[in-house]
This record gives sequence, structure tokens and C-alpha cells, in this order.
Amino acid sequence: MDRIVITGGAPLKGTIPIYGAKNSALKLQAAALLSADPLILENMPDLADTRFMTQLLTTLGVEITWIKETRTLRMHAAEIGSTIAPYDQVRKMRASFNVLGPLLARVGHATVSLPGGCAIGARPVDLHLKAFEAMGADIVIEQGYVKAAALRGLKGAEIEFPFVSVGATEHAMLAATLAQGDTILKNAAREPEIVDLADCLNAMGARIEGAGTGEIRIKGVTSLSGATHAVVPDRIETGTFALAAAATGGNVLLQGARFDHLQALIKLLRGAGVEVDAEARGLRIKRNGGRIQPVNFETEPYPGFPTDLQAQAMALLCLADGQSRIRETIFENRFMHAPELARLGAQIAVHGNEAVVTGVETLKGAPVMATDLRASVSLVIAGLAAEGETIVNRVYHLDRGFEKLEAKLAGCGAQIERQREEQ
Ligand code: UD1
Repeated sequence: MDRIVITGGAPLKGTIPIYGAKNSALKLQAAALLSADPLILENMPDLADTRFMTQLLTTLGVEITWIKETRTLRMHAAEIGSTIAPYDQVRKMRASFNVLGPLLARVGHATVSLPGGCAIGARPVDLHLKAFEAMGADIVIEQGYVKAAALRGLKGAEIEFPFVSVGATEHAMLAATLAQGDTILKNAAREPEIVDLADCLNAMGARIEGAGTGEIRIKGVTSLSGATHAVVPDRIETGTFALAAAATGGNVLLQGARFDHLQALIKLLRGAGVEVDAEARGLRIKRNGGRIQPVNFETEPYPGFPTDLQAQAMALLCLADGQSRIRETIFENRFMHAPELARLGAQIAVHGNEAVVTGVETLKGAPVMATDLRASVSLVIAGLAAEGETIVNRVYHLDRGFEKLEAKLAGCGAQIERQREEQ
């Protein structure tokens, strides 16, 4: 098992290219199942998670070609070869569950294992299933599998989500494109990844309006065609590098990053005393000396502060000149990085879904353990800012969501390398 060894203290300086968003790419991959023509995705990230999805789609009969040089993924679901998504594949990554809706919409039935994913709370799929039931599907759960059928096709429906769910909004949208009649999704998620998915589906011939607002309206069509679509830049990757640049007192250009997708993070960074500027080529993050200022924040659905940047922002605030309060409102059990950050000398008290971070002047390197995707990268950020050596163990979590993490950081002067853990 690999580990990452960091010698902290070097301010990050340079340019980091931002790749396509993992969380968007995975749902766009699922969209390939909706059409008998090829869907071509540009600006694709090459990650463990996107490879899991490629494997799963291949099992379902999709022909896939990955062109590394141009970061292009070509997916062709001329025919659906299987409608069963097995446990062994779905358990590795929650987003694989998103093949259920497209299969149901295209061929009228599917059997998909209940998902696995990060260890950050219960993460049920009840909202997804209720949406399909509202569209006329019969659903039973047997031996860990969801068996869904709509043999005469899905029917458009009005669906009001009781709370905002990114996954359920995307999943319902995918399925509704091929339903008979109109679907209205109320209290829909508004994340940039939702807009990206709607843009891609519309390029395939879907009729979706209102993506990016709380109400999405979809007029069902009888078939979708192929399309070529560029994946939206990853706002979580952008935010992670921005927080790393801030924590190390660096000066970094995040090339291709979208200023408009990161308003909540930019507010936090500016409040902490970090300079953020939109430039023609991307986003510049700069901190020249001076202590980080404390900031209180809570995670919220978009456009609020993303839960996927909470751990990384906590790493920064560990170095603040004062006390910050962080409230996690999206997932239970998402402070697993706090005890690991404490190993580097951070002072964090967790009470339920609230963490109080009392800033310290310096963190000191130590061995730590990665627990989930975003938590792992918060330890990398803290290690980059700490004095001495930090060893991050169990880094396979990082590979799920960050491509070339060490290379991108080393390119900006970080002393960071990957080592094979001794057996
Ligand atoms: C997606 C992202 C994840 C991000 C999250 C919130 C992907 C692959 N993952 O996850 O990185 O942290 O959005 O921005 O895109 N819930 C239910 N029932 C459901 C569905 C969700 O109770 O059927 C709950 C969840 O447990 C959670 C909350 O709703 O507490 C929000 O989850 P959701 O927005 O659905 O997150 P994901 O789509 O799983």
C-alpha cells in the first residue's frame, strides 16, 4: 500500500492545471447508457473512480476507448448487454448506483447492488428510489440488490425532494430524459455538476430547463443521440489547491478554474486574509506572510460552502490566529480528519456536528492515516504547511479523486513523494 511523504514548509509557487470534475464525470459516464450513439467526453479526469465506472459500463456492454493524450473518453452503448450491476463493482464507489436510472429509462428494467462509497455516514438512496417510483417504476430490494422495472416505460412526474440531494437530482434527471411526458424536480440541487449534466444531456437531444435553479423541468423525448461534451473544471480540486497555497503562504495560478463556481470558498479565503483574483487563465491565490485569520463557516448545498472542502478548510484554519467554528450540515461523521490533524499539533474540539478549531502558530510533521477522500487531502495540506516530515498512510483514498496530486504539488516546489509501504 502506498504512502505519501511530505517535508513541509515550502510555500507553493507556480501554476497548477485543473482537470475535469470527478463528480460530474461519473454521472456523464452514466449518461452514455441513454443513447445508442457514442458519447464523447473531453477534459476527462483519469481517476480510480472514473476507471471503476468505465469497468462497470463495460460489464453492461458499453464499448469504451480512452485517449490519454487528449483526455478524451469515447463511450458507445449501441446495445445494452446486461442490466445487472454487481455488488463487487458498485460497492467500490457510490456513484456507480447512477446506472440504475439510465438502464431503467432505456430498457425498462435493471438490477443494481446497493452502493458503498466513502465512510462518511449512512448515505441512503431512498430519495433516488422514491423518484423512480413516482415515475411509475416497481422497485423491490432483495439480498442487497435494487430490482427496478418499468416495462411500459417511465412516466413523467412531479417530484419534490424533502431535502437537497445532488445524487438524487442527477439520477432523476438522467431517467426523466426518456420518460413519457413532463417531469418537474422541485427542491433540486443547484451544483455546477447538475448544470454540466443538463448541458450534456441537452446536447444529446434532451429537453431540460432550469438546471442550476431549485426547479428543473424535463420534457421526455423518445430517444437521445450522441454528443461531444467537455467536463466542467473540478471546483473541489481547485479549492483544495487554493487552500494548500493559502496554508503554505504561496502564490499559485489555478489554470482553468472557474471563479463563479467557488464563491463560498473565495469568501472564506478572503476572510482568512488570503488574496484571490480572477485572471484570464484561471484563479490566482496569494498569501504573503501574516497569520491566517479565523473564520466561522458551515457546509451547505450549493451555492453554500461545499462539504467536500470542509476538511481542507479545517486544515487551513488550524493555523489561524484565533478560534474558528465549523458546522457540518450535509454528512454525519465527517470530522474523521480532526484527530489526525491533532497528531500534527492542531487543537480541535468536536461536539456532534460542530468543530471548534483553536489556531496554533505552527504544525509539526507526524505519521497520519487517511480515512476518506477529502479527509486524506486535508492531511496533505496540513503536512505541506507543517515543520518537518509528515507521512500520510492509506493514500488509496486520494487516488479516487485526485489525479497527479504529488506531481502537481511538486511542480510548485513542494517536497512530496509517494513511497511503497513496507510489507
Ligand atoms: C455528492 C458528491 C459528494 C458530495 C455530496 C454533497 C458525487 C459522486 N458525490 O454525493 O462528493 O459530498 O454530493 O455535495 O457526486 N441522502 C439521503 N437519501 C438519499 C440521498 C441522499 O438521505 O437518497 C442524504 C445523504 O446521506 C446526505 C445528504 O442527503 O446526508 C446529501 O447527499 P447527496 O447530496 O445525495 O450526496 P451524494 O450525491 O451522495
